Amino acid sequence: MNFETKKILITGGSKGIGKAIIAALYKKGAKDIAVVGRSLEKMKALQEEFPNANFEFIQGDVSKPEDIKNVISSVQNKWGFVDILINNAGVVSAGKLDEIEDEDIIAQQNINVTGLILLTKHALPLLKMSEEATIINVSSGLGLIAMPFYAPYAASKAAVKHFSEAMRRELEPFKIHVMTVYPTATDTPMMKTASSGEMDSPELVATKTIEGLINKEIDVILGGPQRIEDNKANFKNPLEFDKKVSGMYAAMLDRASGHRSM
Ligand SMILES: NC(=O)c1ccc[n+]([C@@H]2O[C@H](COP(=O)([O-])OP(=O)(O)OC[C@H]3O[C@@H](n4cnc5c(N)ncnc54)[C@H](OP(=O)(O)O)[C@@H]3O)[C@@H](O)[C@H]2O)c1
Repeated sequence: MNFETKKILITGGSKGIGKAIIAALYKKGAKDIAVVGRSLEKMKALQEEFPNANFEFIQGDVSKPEDIKNVISSVQNKWGFVDILINNAGVVSAGKLDEIEDEDIIAQQNINVTGLILLTKHALPLLKMSEEATIINVSSGLGLIAMPFYAPYAASKAAVKHFSEAMRRELEPFKIHVMTVYPTATDTPMMKTASSGEMDSPELVATKTIEGLINKEIDVILGGPQRIEDNKANFKNPLEFDKKVSGMYAAMLDRASGHRSM
């Protein structure tokens, strides 16, 4: 894949996994990168780190349909098409369901799911004009195995999984590839308020994402072989998996309490 000519649109590229993906793409020769985020200041800092990139910084909130329209018209005016759409922006608010604010429950669905779907919808005409288009959706390990105290977040990430699968099949005649990334706990600003133990680096997630993009994988699942085994075990025998989770109940509550990055 020749990244030098690719037109790339990424949401949430100012920090964390999104920024690591930009770094990995830049290393591969990518230059034309449009970045979407709520803070223009944070995005502008990318230019210093990646001086040869032709960035387009688009201030916007993916949960706002008017901002999405502005994102699309900006890239349409600049390039006329998009080769790679990376739906990475996401937020989390964890804890016992009855203690999560209604606003956080709504915003997690609006940002993690509805915004991602709307941006994809409106980017489709631009992706269809590419010779080789890919949509990358960032879900979560919690989109494959739901865990207590992350119910609204896990629901949003499972929705991303199903949206990706449906779109992969829907877009097959257009040769637009759809890939989903499932990171586990990753050391980013999102995890600052979570008392998580060992975490992946955002660079590892980015490396696996780029490998998946080049190899046209459909799912990039982080967390190693144990994670794959857990996914199978949870699918085959959820009641047995419940027992495993039950043994970790107090520790999981402790870890999730106060985990909020909105
Ligand atoms: N870190 C983990 O452990 C982990 C694990 C599994 C999955 N994930 C997923 O990976 C993705 C990236 O997470 P991360 O850990 O890198 O998070 P992060 O460090 O908090 O970065 C999130 C990025 O998304 C942007 N963003 C947030 N809300 C937005 C909105 N409404 N509109 C536009 N941009 C928005 C942020 O910029 P602004 O704040 O300026 O808007 C920021 O650039 C998310 O989808 C997350 O759910 C993360």
